[in-house]
Amino acid sequence: MKILGIESSCDECAAAVVEDGRWIRSDVVATQIPFHARFQGVVPEIASRKHAEWIYGVVEKALDDAEIAPAAIDGIAVTARPGLTGSLLVGLQFAKGMAYALDKPLIGVNHILAHLYAPQLETPVDYPFLGLLVSGGHSIICRCDDFDRIEVLGTTIDDAVGEAFDKVAKHYGFGYPGGAVIDALAERGDETAFAFPKPSLHKGEHRYDVSYSGLKTAVIHQLEQYRRPGAEASPENIAASFRKAAVDILLARLFRAIEDTGLTTIVAGGGVAANAYLRRSLAAHAELDVRFPPLKLCGDNGAMIAGIGFRYLARGERSSFDLNAAARVPLFRRK
Ligand code: KG4
Ligand code: ZN
Repeated sequence: MKILGIESSCDECAAAVVEDGRWIRSDVVATQIPFHARFQGVVPEIASRKHAEWIYGVVEKALDDAEIAPAAIDGIAVTARPGLTGSLLVGLQFAKGMAYALDKPLIGVNHILAHLYAPQLETPVDYPFLGLLVSGGHSIICRCDDFDRIEVLGTTIDDAVGEAFDKVAKHYGFGYPGGAVIDALAERGDETAFAFPKPSLHKGEHRYDVSYSGLKTAVIHQLEQYRRPGAEASPENIAASFRKAAVDILLARLFRAIEDTGLTTIVAGGGVAANAYLRRSLAAHAELDVRFPPLKLCGDNGAMIAGIGFRYLARGERSSFDLNAAARVPLFRRK
């Protein structure tokens, strides 16, 4: 079965054709980064308007690259939640129109589950595993029992980890988008130049939760206070010390979850899963089976949407035409 996947939840306008939930026949991502760069963040109004302008061309290219006629598609999967409402609606309504015109099944997809599905496109991963979904909007540690069954163990109580990267980069004028810029600067910096504070581990229900507001404040407003005597306050050193602190906060909770659940397969997803220090730190643990999607599939893309869409369709599930976009989704949290 060939599924067309459409993704427009944030600032990437993307479409892909994936066969049998695994084989990527095409993968088109049109990024809006240049349009948001001067605002150093995604401007929702610009994002939805660009999607409206681009979506037809992106979908057409995905079909062309896959050398498939629209009528030969078996279903149309689309991100319906969570994300920017205006942006989501563009992809959703386009998918509905196509599904109606071609008389094909429509499958609305949860973006979070799709990120966690991304590594399956390359190599199947056996369930259960621990998921680490880290992006501009999410910092989630979860137990995944199936492609559509996750239990959130921990999440952020304030900013998402990618958001912290973006805010620090914006404050220091390092460039946009912040995560990749800080990651590159950090490779040339000294991560011991600043000893930034990390939130202490909680007990009980919040034992896997992360928090980034304290770290963000320290890096932005109290830099000098954490500088090692003699260390230079260069962009590289700030970036390296911040990156280490930000990722170590995640790792401390993840390792706690590994210990508590006994699960040793870790699947990472989301834009921050591209982070070099995070990848190196986890790869160093030979006792873990760590699956990072290839860099191309870490960020938002249509292939993960088409992939997980196939799994729903294979189970005989489809969405109705009154499907609506939702900016937020409830997290299926462990009690
Ligand atoms: O998954 P994604 O493309 O969109 C969301 O769903 O949010 O993730 C984007 C986020 C941004 O916050 C960006 O700064 C961050 O991922 N990011 C990184 C890296 N590359 C992208 N953060 C840290 N290190 C990176 N190499
Ligand atoms: Zn995403």
